[in-house]
Amino acid sequence: MRTLPDRLHRTFFRTMSLLPARGQGRFLQRYFDWFHRNPDPWRHAVDPYEAAKYDATLRHVGAGEFRRILDVGCSEGTFTLRAAAAYPGADVVGVDVSDRAVERATARAEGRAAFVALDFLNQDPGGRFDLVFCAETLYYVGREERLRLACGRLRSFLAPRGTLVVTHPWPEARRLHGFLDRDPALSKVGERVESGNGRPFAVSSYRLGEAAG
Ligand SMILES: C[S@@+](CC[C@H](N)C(=O)[O-])C[C@H]1O[C@@H](n2cnc3c(N)ncnc32)[C@H](O)[C@@H]1O
Repeated sequence: MRTLPDRLHRTFFRTMSLLPARGQGRFLQRYFDWFHRNPDPWRHAVDPYEAAKYDATLRHVGAGEFRRILDVGCSEGTFTLRAAAAYPGADVVGVDVSDRAVERATARAEGRAAFVALDFLNQDPGGRFDLVFCAETLYYVGREERLRLACGRLRSFLAPRGTLVVTHPWPEARRLHGFLDRDPALSKVGERVESGNGRPFAVSSYRLGEAAG
């Protein structure tokens, strides 16, 4: 069940999504740069709940040969660097709307992954990816029309037969992942709901068809 702060948070971002997409992108850039005024604002690097979520996400994907991996909404790259370690043969790119987050991620990475500051609603990361992750980011997108756009953008980053993996709180994930569930170009490969010690989350994965993309 969502708490009152969660509801206020969602209402705030839904209201900002009434702006045109580019205006929303500029707002998100300012907001998340402010949010990253201190390092690791969500404690991704130290919170055992986050570590368990990252492990569950990588377990869900399992072994595979991936040439290019993208992490959308990567913050300071904690998960991105785990993905780089899990798939050492891949070129790994993390993107985030906050310049500050990307600067810190780049400094930490020491070349293990590349990081680019961009707003994924309006800007492309360059090329197509065999594996795309997006976690704890879609609830900032706001109203349904924008969510449809965001899901279409995530799909557009996939190479043919590429895999998209999205991780969000459960049961809200049902709504957040819904446009992906209904996208005829994507096949749902799996979904796992983990208890998360009282903060359940879902990891859902999708594959792009050969002809699409
Ligand atoms: C809660 S953090 C999740 C970080 C990471 N995915 C994880 O699970 O550890 C959400 C991140 O999404 C980024 N973000 C939000 N909207 C974005 C957008 N339109 N384009 C790129 N990044 C965005 C924020 O700056 C923030 O760093």
